[in-house]
Amino acid sequence: MNFAHEPVLLRQVVEWLNPAAGRRFIDGTVGGGGHSAAILEKAPADAELLGIDRDDEALAAAKAKLSAFGPRVRLVRSAYSRMSEIAEELEWEDGSVDGILLDIGVSSHQINTPDRGFAHRFDGPLDMRMDRRTPVTAATLLNRSTLEELTRIFREYGEEPKAFRLAQAIVARRAERPWERTGELAELAQKTVGKPFERGLPAATRCFQALRIAVNGELEELEKGLEEAVLLLRPGGRLAVISFHSLEDRRVKHFFRDEALSCVCPPGLPICVCHKTPRLKVLTKHPVDADEAEVAENRRSACAHLRVAERV
Ligand SMILES: C[S@@+](CC[C@H](N)C(=O)[O-])C[C@H]1O[C@@H](n2cnc3c(N)ncnc32)[C@H](O)[C@@H]1O
Repeated sequence: MNFAHEPVLLRQVVEWLNPAAGRRFIDGTVGGGGHSAAILEKAPADAELLGIDRDDEALAAAKAKLSAFGPRVRLVRSAYSRMSEIAEELEWEDGSVDGILLDIGVSSHQINTPDRGFAHRFDGPLDMRMDRRTPVTAATLLNRSTLEELTRIFREYGEEPKAFRLAQAIVARRAERPWERTGELAELAQKTVGKPFERGLPAATRCFQALRIAVNGELEELEKGLEEAVLLLRPGGRLAVISFHSLEDRRVKHFFRDEALSCVCPPGLPICVCHKTPRLKVLTKHPVDADEAEVAENRRSACAHLRVAERV
């Protein structure tokens, strides 16, 4: 298997996580191991890293890439929302981790492999599962979801203005024959809700993004994963999150902001009664983006936003 994935914002991730000052790291989306390798290269010689990914092909690539670090690296096939449980098995207790990275979304390998069904540019099976042990594929959703459920998926996860129309077309078409191929879906999305000169994301991109998020429960994963990460970090430990679209970035931004608040009492109370303790300090006021040189070399990086917070 040829696994090609260029890690985005690599220098910035390493600078913000400051591995030289740590001993325990978690890469919740280890992918091909590019970020993990860079973290370990800058970390002390006895530092350890737990790498998690749902994708068996990613883990195989990470295993090869990180083999030079020997037993300092443990790789686990799982969802990062189970980070605490996995860390506990290594006897890494809550409050003991120095740095955590989540580089969420799909890898170039996933998107560029037609058989995985992530891309509307290629024809392939309507799969889209990151973890191919799970039962629900994109085809399952398209063939079995109700009209209302499909409408919700396209509206919430694809921000599709004509979500109902797209869902209706999908349901009408499946009465003739079941959904199987990405090519047919891309064509239908473009024909039904696309415009010849579209501003923003093309119709097929919105449609595929929505299904991928639904198939992999990506937003639920993110919410749970952020919670788990905060519990695992030691005071002064850092959490770095790279997201690739506004649905994710908004969640990260709000989570960081809420966790940094020291009071959530309703306005107008004379004294604070909530006694909230902030758990995070936000280090990046604005998201860190790729510079022109990186974008010229790696187009994926154009959509990447890095946010970093420190455990208080
Ligand atoms: C953008 S790639 C990460 C690339 C990696 N940073 C590198 O340097 O190669 C995202 C990876 O996260 C994995 N992933 C996405 N959501 C996940 C989740 N909830 N739990 C575990 N892995 C996940 C995907 O399978 C994919 O391999």
